Amino acid sequence: MKQSFRKKPLALLLEEMQGEHRLHRVLGPVALTSLGVGAIIGTGIFVLIGIAAHDKAGPAVTLSFALAGFACIFAALCYAEFASMAPVAGSAYTYAYATLGELFAWIIGWDLILEYGVASATVAHGWSHYFQDFISIFGLSIPAVFSRPPLDFDPATGMMTPTGALFDLPAVLVALAMTVVLVKGIKESAGFNSVMVILKVAVVLLVIVLGAMHINPANWQPFAPFGYSGLSLFGHTVLGPAGSGGAPVGVLAGAAMIFFAYIGFDSVSIHAEEAINPQRDIPIGLITSLIICTVLYIAVATVITGMVPYDQLNIDAPVSNAFKQVGLEWAQFIVSLGAITGITSVLLVMMLSQPRIFLAMARDGLLPVKFFGAIHEKFRTPWKSTILTGIFVAVLGGLLPLRLLAELVNIGTLFAFVVVCSAVLIMRRTNPDAVRPFRAPLVPFVPIAGILTCLVLMFSLPAENWLRLIVWLAIGFLIYYFYGRRHSVLRKINSAR
Ligand code: ALA
Repeated sequence: MKQSFRKKPLALLLEEMQGEHRLHRVLGPVALTSLGVGAIIGTGIFVLIGIAAHDKAGPAVTLSFALAGFACIFAALCYAEFASMAPVAGSAYTYAYATLGELFAWIIGWDLILEYGVASATVAHGWSHYFQDFISIFGLSIPAVFSRPPLDFDPATGMMTPTGALFDLPAVLVALAMTVVLVKGIKESAGFNSVMVILKVAVVLLVIVLGAMHINPANWQPFAPFGYSGLSLFGHTVLGPAGSGGAPVGVLAGAAMIFFAYIGFDSVSIHAEEAINPQRDIPIGLITSLIICTVLYIAVATVITGMVPYDQLNIDAPVSNAFKQVGLEWAQFIVSLGAITGITSVLLVMMLSQPRIFLAMARDGLLPVKFFGAIHEKFRTPWKSTILTGIFVAVLGGLLPLRLLAELVNIGTLFAFVVVCSAVLIMRRTNPDAVRPFRAPLVPFVPIAGILTCLVLMFSLPAENWLRLIVWLAIGFLIYYFYGRRHSVLRKINSAR
């Protein structure tokens, strides 16, 4: 039991950084910010905004974006403090190991599979929606049986309903293609990423500027048809009206859903080990990318809900479809293409991050190091776990519905943020004199505000997500109990003393 709460000393983390078999240090501040933006702008703003406005918040989805952005900014400041103290691969997992002990670290590492692995599957779905929207412009379509997952999730009944399809072929193919790119290496991937990021930011700006010229202010009325709240506790609405099937609706419920749009900024901290000057550049990359995206999101949400009445927004490809609805078919073409490119870059960074978390866990002995720690001789990438991630993403993305995946990712990520904010508070007490090249401002206000806002968003998700999170964590606990606990490197070091 005691062993499960053993913490990894900060000095050991820093010592490990000097060791061999490290990843190449090739990323500067611009590349890191670009990785952040690359990971952030994707399925959330291009796809989920439709469901969130249509079913949860109406035009007030703009406020939902602002609120979720705030929760993330608090968390990002905490991530930045940690990442500057211990710029090693592993992100929240490593921070938890240093502050809360091995069991918590494992739980977070396991939870991060939801954030990256399952998020990648969600993103692959979003990609497929826009791909299908794009080819439809040319009168082409994917055969119906290969166009979507076999099951859809009906929030009103909480049941899965058959769609008549077999699997989502474009989602599977894009996941496999990304795997090939990632096995080849981060330097090439970062270059590829920068091109895609420039393109997608250009398209987002086009959406804002062109869309602003086609706003009909009447569409913003009523502004908050589902109310300004939407807080529920395990499925029981405590503030605001309940939607169909008792699911929470309102600005908070919308924020809990579009929170997905912000996921990814923390992936900047995962690349600490590949940063040239991590102490300075990781905080810059984290915070700059998040602020850029928050501003863009609020603007896009304002414009899209001004262009089309919220209840007429398309659910599959709402942003490009809004242009179709106002008669700008040429813009639909560009927006679809930009969304495909943008979502590809999210997939790239997400699928790049997952194997690096596995790598950090394998180095600590919590996962089999032969497999998860294997670095390719020529490409210097964690190739085996990259391929495993690719297969996992392809299977989940091909078979499970978007909404179910997105909510699961959100609750898992919010949980990780709560842990990171708590870890900053704990570390300030336990290691007050540690060198902190970046200090989160206004401690304890910022971490406490981060914890509270993330908890509110977690509670604003439909109740079944808590159950899914608990089942997922329980499976993780069993793996730790039977494998990680016994193979832990820290345990071996401690018992050799
Ligand atoms: N934030 C990323 C997206 O919206 C995960 O696609």
